[in-house]
Amino acid sequence: MENFLELANKRESCRKFDGRPVSREDLLKCVEAARLAPSACNSQPWKFIIVDDPALKTELCRAAFSAPYTASWPEKAGAIVVVISESGSFASKIGNLVRDTRYYLIDVGIAVEHFILQAAELGLGTCWMGWFNEKRVKKVLGLPSASRVDIIVPVGYPENKEPRRKIRKGIEETYKFNK
Ligand SMILES: Cc1cc2nc3c(=O)[nH]c(=O)nc-3n(C[C@H](O)[C@H](O)[C@H](O)COP(=O)(O)O)c2cc1C
Repeated sequence: MENFLELANKRESCRKFDGRPVSREDLLKCVEAARLAPSACNSQPWKFIIVDDPALKTELCRAAFSAPYTASWPEKAGAIVVVISESGSFASKIGNLVRDTRYYLIDVGIAVEHFILQAAELGLGTCWMGWFNEKRVKKVLGLPSASRVDIIVPVGYPENKEPRRKIRKGIEETYKFNK
């Protein structure tokens, strides 16, 4: 990979995997990239549960993506990464209240994108997924019912090697200098 813009362009949502497993070494490189992400008050409010056991992966996918969240393609990913959002440090919670925002979601978003960009650099496909049955995911993984899972990321080898054209607003709609 030559430079960051090339990597950002290469990353796209992959919804067709070829079924090959992903090595733990590569998965851990992605976790390492996520671990280096910044977070409000450095609270690092995330945990990555990586499901690469084939039987558990199938069970998880069927629970997560059953109607009305239907999707069968994640089953062909080599691993399913379930991201637990933790509520952040005391200081960041105070920040949430004062600013009426949810810093932990911003933090988790940055960490997941680090994960995903590292995956793209390794030639792996990923897809951000926010549409799934959270209750059933927690049940399959034995997570406490009070825990939060906001994002799931299937990771695997893309079937299609040709990059898609990015559909985005024009750059002129995206920025302003000064006021
Ligand atoms: C927070 C978030 C949640 C998403 N949830 C889903 C999802 O549940 N299912 C899905 O197929 N794609 C999901 N996507 C992928 C978007 O549809 C995709 O990123 C967008 O259309 C741009 O396409 P690209 O990722 O290929 O550049 C999600 C993306 C984000 C950032």
